[in-house]
Amino acid sequence: MEEIVKAETYKGLYGMHKYWGKKPFNVICEFIKKYSKEGDIVLDSFCGSGITLIEALKLNRRAVGFDLNPIAIMLTKASLKRVDIKILKKEFEEIKKELEPLINSLYETTCEKCGGIAYETHVIWNKGEPQEVWYKCDNCKLKKVIRKGNDYDKEQCENPRIKPLWYPTTAMFENSRLNVREGQTVADLFTNRAIVALSYLLDRIKRVKDPIIKETFEITFTGALSQASKLVFVIRRRNKNSTSGKEETGRAEVGSWVVGYWIPEEHFEINVWNCFENRFKKILKGKEDVNKTFSKEIAFYDEFNSLKYSKSGALILNASATDIDIPDNSIDYVFIDPPHGNRILYMEMSLMWNSWLGLEFNCDWENEIVVSEAKYRNKNVDSYSKMMNLALLEIKRVLKYGCYFSLAFNSLDDETWLEMLNMCIGTGFNVVDISPLGYSANSVVQDNRKNALKTDFVITCKKILNQKQKE
Ligand SMILES: C[S@@+](CC[C@H](N)C(=O)[O-])C[C@H]1O[C@@H](n2cnc3c(N)ncnc32)[C@H](O)[C@@H]1O
Ligand SMILES: [Zn+2]
Repeated sequence: MEEIVKAETYKGLYGMHKYWGKKPFNVICEFIKKYSKEGDIVLDSFCGSGITLIEALKLNRRAVGFDLNPIAIMLTKASLKRVDIKILKKEFEEIKKELEPLINSLYETTCEKCGGIAYETHVIWNKGEPQEVWYKCDNCKLKKVIRKGNDYDKEQCENPRIKPLWYPTTAMFENSRLNVREGQTVADLFTNRAIVALSYLLDRIKRVKDPIIKETFEITFTGALSQASKLVFVIRRRNKNSTSGKEETGRAEVGSWVVGYWIPEEHFEINVWNCFENRFKKILKGKEDVNKTFSKEIAFYDEFNSLKYSKSGALILNASATDIDIPDNSIDYVFIDPPHGNRILYMEMSLMWNSWLGLEFNCDWENEIVVSEAKYRNKNVDSYSKMMNLALLEIKRVLKYGCYFSLAFNSLDDETWLEMLNMCIGTGFNVVDISPLGYSANSVVQDNRKNALKTDFVITCKKILNQKQKE
């Protein structure tokens, strides 16, 4: 790509839910424009949160997407489905009316100013003890009062007075890199009180009748999970007027979910209702953006032929890139951004989301293309290369002759990068272009000089008839 487009940040429909490895949408859009035309069928067989498909549909292409991770498919579809904002808001108000008081009752405390009932918004736990409590008092119109934690706070959190409804007790894969120890379950990522609140919230969401509204609340729920968990670390800024020169405990700020399932010794516990309401605000903005972006309802098909014989629409399935149910020579352009070795363990990292929605039963752990240190998973460099190769062969098979295939890849070590390039060539593709993805030309030059590839690259290949076939 001669002109390098600057990556834009994720907001609106791209900012509804976290997913790892999202690629800059405006850059992908340029690739789709360059290598396909209106009406064409664009495939991303590692679609993740769906950026390629969203861009393709925005550009009046038809879209086909696969991902092995069930939540990825759900998020992709959620970014494409229009929703009636009025009904969505109304349902939210009803959920709020029913559940805010119940959830808040789990966080009750006494206001030190007026003696009335107040509600904890945050508790900072340190080595299992409530160190600091933040609460709000509507009576005194105070949004944040800070006091020390006490035994009662501990009791209230550890033995909540309401019993939980259903919640996931799914076992996680032991993996020291992700800080998952032997025997750990998804429930261990939350305080007992958060489990109660979340279980009630989920139960209520399951009873929403309209399927699209229900799905919208399900992703609001999963989107809120990390902030509602024990994975939120405490940011301590150094006190400005510190004279001792030593690190001092400064004001605490709320961090977020960073890497793996690391539960910091000092972590926040945030009122579950607040987490849900804050996430809903983002989802609402996202859905307004979806309605604006796609003025017409997108048709979703469940098999390729129906899409092939219609002018528009999408086929988006929870399936493996290594075994695509599409006839030979039927795709006009492919853009993929596959997993990069052991960089991100997508399915292990999504287990927290998938398990709450009961989607872990749809997780095809065996077919995931990834390098993982998890015990019992047997995901090594070898199996990664083999399966990646299968996925590339499938792409080659379904792509039409004379059409293009782009692959985004980021690798800090040149070897992996070369291997990927060789794999493309080995599959029989002709490499026609290699461009950096979404950064300024300068930074690429600098990277090259240091002999390290620090940015994302896009390899574009063409499917051509080989000599034998030509003859
Ligand atoms: C780098 S991410 C894609 C991110 C995507 N570009 C986005 O916009 O969100 C790679 C994806 O490959 C998926 N994946 C891993 N193995 C797969 C397989 N065998 N078939 C399909 N998808 C797979 C992972 O679940 C993950 O979502
Ligand atoms: Zn008060």
